[in-house]
This record gives sequence, C-alpha cells and structure tokens, in this order.
Amino acid sequence: MELIRQIQDMRNVISNLRADKPSIRIGFVPTMGFLHQGHASLLQAARQQCDIVVLSIFVNPLQFGPNEDFERYPRDEARDLALAEAAGTDFVFSPSTAEMYPRPSKTKILISGVTEQLCGASRPGHFDGVGIVVTKLFQIIQPNAAFFGMKDAQQVAVIKQLVTDLNMPVEIVPCAIIREQDGLAMSSRNVYLQSEEREQALVLSRTLKQMERQTIEAGGDLPTAELKQAIRKQIEEMPLADIDYIEILAYPDLEPIERLKDAKQVIIALAVRFGKTRLIDNVIIQLQE
Ligand code: PAF
Repeated sequence: MELIRQIQDMRNVISNLRADKPSIRIGFVPTMGFLHQGHASLLQAARQQCDIVVLSIFVNPLQFGPNEDFERYPRDEARDLALAEAAGTDFVFSPSTAEMYPRPSKTKILISGVTEQLCGASRPGHFDGVGIVVTKLFQIIQPNAAFFGMKDAQQVAVIKQLVTDLNMPVEIVPCAIIREQDGLAMSSRNVYLQSEEREQALVLSRTLKQMERQTIEAGGDLPTAELKQAIRKQIEEMPLADIDYIEILAYPDLEPIERLKDAKQVIIALAVRFGKTRLIDNVIIQLQE
C-alpha cells in the first residue's frame, strides 16, 4: 500500500496504471478518516469489484458549519493506514488542506432538489462542501466506481444526482449500513458518546427496526404523519435525546409523501443529538417493484 499526499503524484499513479492496462477498473472510497468497520466494508466491496482500490482521507473543512466539529473531528492516521492495508487498499490519498484548497475555491457546486431537506436543512452549506470535494477527488482519481455508505443516504442521493447531471463517468455504489452488535450504526463520531448517551442512542436503530416491520406488515398503507409521531414518542422516552429531525420521504428523490405506499421506496431518516453528538440513522424500505 502506498501513501500519497500530493495531487500530482496521485494523478501520475493513475495515468501510469491506465497506460499499463487501459481496461483497469479503479475503485475509490472517499472518507474523512478515523476509519471503522463501515469504511472497511466499503474497501472490501471495492476490492471485490475493482482491480485497484484507492482510499482518500481528507477532513474537508468546506462541509462543516461554523459551529460544527471540524477542529475536534477525530483523526488517527496510523490506525487508519493499518485498517486500510488490512482491508486490501492499494493507494491512500491523504492531502493537506493547503494541497486541496491552495486558495479559496471560486467554483461552487450547488445541487438542488435533494439538498433542501434532512441534513441539508439542518446543516446549511454542508452539501455544497461535499459536492465540491467529491468533484475534486473524482477529477484527481478518475475512478470507475466510487463506494459510499448508506448511513449517509442523502449524501448518496446527492452524489448520484451530481454524477448524472455532470455526466461524470463514475458508477456510484451504495453499500449497506454497518452496525455494532447492539444495533448502533457505525460512525466516526460515535467516539464522542459518553456511556449513558451511547446506551440511550440505541433507541434509533431499535425504533427504525420496529417501524420497518410495522410498515411491511401494513403493506405501506400508513400515513407518514402518524408514523413520525409514533417515532417521536419513542425517541422522546430517552431523556438525553434531542431530536433534530424525523423524516419519511420518497427515496432517492426525497420528495414528501402522505402515505408510505405513495412511493416505490421510502426512507425513514433520523437525526438526533445525544449530548454534543449528532447521530444520523435511517432505513430504506422497498414498497413496490
Ligand atoms: O462521507 C464522508 O465521509 C464525506 O462526506 C466525504 C464523502 C468523504 C466527502 O468529504
């Protein structure tokens, strides 16, 4: 495994690989580091489907709001490199902020329709920052396929929209949420949780599982408003939970629906703070073929 810090070096590696074997399939896993088994599963999927696996580690300042956790976002490069190597990564691209943004970017990537709701509403500008960094990384690495975790289901919808709208020749491969044994969705931010917060945070996966079961049993014939109310009631039973949003929308277009069966596929998405930690989780339910 090779660690690369400069954009030009990364470009040279890719062009040499393509010169040697034009049909090579390059798989890319973009991350902000502090890797966990969720990231490992993306790397393993890339390993299975591609000839070369490139991982990026870059904590992108542009996708954090002024009062968010950019400064304290957990970082541990040595641990990340060990996990990446064990998961079969060939190249790690880990540039500095100055390398990625030598001067303020005057180009904006504004994706509409799928960014005004959910995390886009709670974190203004977040998806503009994701859009620009993912576009830059795709330009540098020029992957055939890029692997994203479905915990950030809205991010997957946004990136699919971006590559479709801009005709980027990258296949977006969504990968299942990886959970701890007790159901907590894996996230780099889980390290922030105090033990009581972590215990109470299990309400998210528990409630989603129950609502998924209820929805399937009812064949989706349920009003979204009632289901959202039922979810709110369960989460509010946890004294440390501070709800940011509970949403049920069509997926991937993220349009509002009155009854779940109004869409072929729905997302039940939650964002809830426990202490200073904002957690997200979701379930996607297929209601029609
Ligand atoms: O999902 C993430 O970790 C980030 O949003 C991404 C895609 C690496 C862009 O910074």
